[in-house]
Amino acid sequence: MKHKTTRIGLVGYGQIGQAVHRMIEADTQNGMEVVFIHDRCPDAQAQAPPQLALEDLGDFTQSNPDLVVEMAHPDVSREWGCAILEKTDYLLVSVTAMADAQLEKQLLEAASRHGTRLFLPHGGVVGMDALYENRDIWDSVEVVMKKPPANVDCAAAGMDPDQIKEETVLYDGPTRGICPMFPRNVNTHAIIALAGIGFDRTRSVLVVDPAWNVATVEIQASGGGIQLHTERVEGITGVTGASTPASIYNSIQMVGSTRPGIHLR
Ligand SMILES: NC(=O)c1ccc[n+]([C@@H]2O[C@H](COP(=O)([O-])OP(=O)(O)OC[C@H]3O[C@@H](n4cnc5c(N)ncnc54)[C@H](O)[C@@H]3O)[C@@H](O)[C@H]2O)c1
Repeated sequence: MKHKTTRIGLVGYGQIGQAVHRMIEADTQNGMEVVFIHDRCPDAQAQAPPQLALEDLGDFTQSNPDLVVEMAHPDVSREWGCAILEKTDYLLVSVTAMADAQLEKQLLEAASRHGTRLFLPHGGVVGMDALYENRDIWDSVEVVMKKPPANVDCAAAGMDPDQIKEETVLYDGPTRGICPMFPRNVNTHAIIALAGIGFDRTRSVLVVDPAWNVATVEIQASGGGIQLHTERVEGITGVTGASTPASIYNSIQMVGSTRPGIHLR
């Protein structure tokens, strides 16, 4: 039996994008092929093999992708999400984009109008399956994220991380509000909200301390006689935790791998 190869376009060729590309290339049996790479930054784009470089994302259909994977910035979904979903499936890693209710509606409408699929990976979340499967019974869901301030992009919040000298709570409130303030840092909060009780009912806390050198994400959900508590502590580079590239690759495989045999995801 001949297995189809899934043709994949990558948008964003930074830390996650380059790692994911390496992982796709390293496994020749996975039935996936990278057909273009687009990054708006010339230096990042220059890291990609020239034959895969796509200068203008508007030309993405030229290589006939089955799946486009965004690993760049939530702005990509604002600018290109609907156009991508008009033609093919879309997996977006910068999930904070979905806190914009109007954009969420537009993406869902584009997908249903064109019969395409929008994939949202669990990324940095441990236990999203348990959170999602029980989403109808939770009374409360909260996520507490702790990071060194140097690993938090505070630009949209108008804060200067270099001025923070001690443990400081940067945000405590509904997840809807934290996403536009720290759009590159709180994708974990956004996917927890989507999987659980929504952006307006989920409580998000972001704490920074220059004395820390790791990132911690703690999730608590309770309701219907069930208590869920997970915690992961990991190294962090830039805005991305050490476990994230492998997690994103696994989600891409869930969608795109046509490898014969067992699939554990
Ligand atoms: N879902 C998750 O759990 C999770 C975890 C970590 C990071 N992220 C998100 O994934 C994305 C990538 O993270 P990273 O660590 O690889 O970042 P990075 O800064 O190393 O790389 C991002 C790349 O995207 C490019 N880029 C930015 N905006 C662009 C645009 N509008 N069009 C085209 N290219 C653009 C940049 O030039 C850069 O090369 C970020 O948005 C980050 O917030 C998600």
